[in-house]
Amino acid sequence: MSNWKNTLLHYVGLGNYDRYVEGLIKKSIAVYHRGGKINRLRALRMYNKIRKNYGCCFPPRITVGKNLYIAHAHGIHVGKTAVIGDNCKIYPNVLIVASVVGDAQLRSKGAKRWHPKIGNDCLLGAGSIIMGPIEIGDDVIVGAGAIVTKNVPPHSVVKNTNEITPKRAPVPAKDLDDSWEKP
Ligand SMILES: CC(C)(COP(=O)(O)OP(=O)(O)OC[C@H]1O[C@@H](n2cnc3c(N)ncnc32)[C@H](O)[C@@H]1OP(=O)(O)O)[C@@H](O)C(=O)NCCC(=O)NCCS
Repeated sequence: MSNWKNTLLHYVGLGNYDRYVEGLIKKSIAVYHRGGKINRLRALRMYNKIRKNYGCCFPPRITVGKNLYIAHAHGIHVGKTAVIGDNCKIYPNVLIVASVVGDAQLRSKGAKRWHPKIGNDCLLGAGSIIMGPIEIGDDVIVGAGAIVTKNVPPHSVVKNTNEITPKRAPVPAKDLDDSWEKP
């Protein structure tokens, strides 16, 4: 979408940059998972456009559940074997990545996944780094700026580096912010 078109749509309350980029990302993933060489090629073309124009890296081969919500589509990088569950909410500059050294070791052993697996209903705070073939349980909040390199049990909050505490309130992570919108 051109910058002017997006600006005008936003001005009249019809457009939203973040929802637009989120839509492109979801489309590239859906197209890739339809299978076939042509679809994979189309998906990779969309992936490259999203990377170049919007600064988000979502390789189309990743597994993503229903209702992914990308709060602000900037600087998000997801590794190609990552898995993201249903109803997850991702803030800007989140990295869901491999641990590089561990990544090489796992690959040489023929592992199928060397990036994190995020459960359902999780909220990944701005600037958080989730690293390695770990599993984040359902309904987990990863605080802004947290570094997570260990498995996280369901219904927890992670702050700082691997500082895991149980969630205080029984409110699903995805409902904590009223800006949550169903795509
Ligand atoms: C992790 C989070 C959900 C915690 O919320 P909370 O339970 O309401 O926490 P509180 O605000 O009551 O703070 C409790 C303590 O944790 C600290 N804290 C809160 N968030 C923290 C974080 N991300 N990293 C480190 N410490 C944090 C607070 O300073 C406070 O410390 P204190 O007890 O010494 O005063 C929240 O702070 C957070 O990081 N949300 C994500 C926000 C975000 O990404 N916004 C981007 C919008 S684009």
